[in-house]
Amino acid sequence: MSDLTGEVVLVTGAARGIGAAIALAAADAGARVGLLDIDADGARALAERIGPAAAWAACDITDQNSVAPAVTALRSDLGPVTGLVNNAGKNAYGDPVAMTVDEWDEVFAVDLKGAWLMSRAVLPDMLAAERGAIVNIASMHATFTCPGMFPYAAAKSGLVGLTRSLALEVGPRGVRVNSVSPGYIETDLLAEYFSLQPPEVRREALDKHILGRLGTPEQVASVVAFLLSESAGFVTGADWAVDGGVSARFA
Ligand code: NAI
Repeated sequence: MSDLTGEVVLVTGAARGIGAAIALAAADAGARVGLLDIDADGARALAERIGPAAAWAACDITDQNSVAPAVTALRSDLGPVTGLVNNAGKNAYGDPVAMTVDEWDEVFAVDLKGAWLMSRAVLPDMLAAERGAIVNIASMHATFTCPGMFPYAAAKSGLVGLTRSLALEVGPRGVRVNSVSPGYIETDLLAEYFSLQPPEVRREALDKHILGRLGTPEQVASVVAFLLSESAGFVTGADWAVDGGVSARFA
């Protein structure tokens, strides 16, 4: 197991799904964890479950006026931030012609801009300490995608680009930045996706997996905990696939 003893790790979208699993894994690995979510009740419930090592804050990652006070409050509860997981995100099911500019902006605000706003808020601590790790939860859609999810792939590709770009900016000052690109992970978000598809799509998705099964939030969380830890001390600017081998397959 990765060791995060003494680290202070903030996780966005921590109320449920992959974010909740990451928060639990980081706490299990010894970190103090700050849970941020627009779902305040969910974040509070998970913080209570974790216990004294956790604090929570209601936060909309798309709004700088929400990010700043949330990060300040968690910093005062937990101490200077040494790790950040930009996990909050959502699917998009837009049509390239019918989509409005507001709808476009909303996708990019959640799936891309929020990661920068959060990184901007925690980097002063990390740069002052000359150590820190940021992990962005991108998606297999950053590399290949499917019809009906416009423009999710563009936003998640942007998040992998942000990962590389930020890694170059802050690496010389001791901060590592990586992304993780999950495949099909059993969460409420995936249930939402399958509910919008014909019934055979779930079977087809399973058939594409070399391992013959979908992933769990915990299987993403263990890779994230590794990337946050000193065990990954020579890993930066990289995108890690956690997709059961879907991306290795041509057809
Ligand atoms: P989820 O929908 O179960 O959980 C997302 C969490 O983010 C929720 O608690 C939600 O309240 C929070 N959130 C949404 N917008 C927010 C905002 N503006 N500010 C703060 N919190 C916000 O999603 P899931 O499945 O756990 O996904 C987590 C991340 O993993 C997302 O970035 C998603 O795009 C990515 N991902 C998920 C995959 C899957 O199969 N589940 C596959 C590939 C990527």
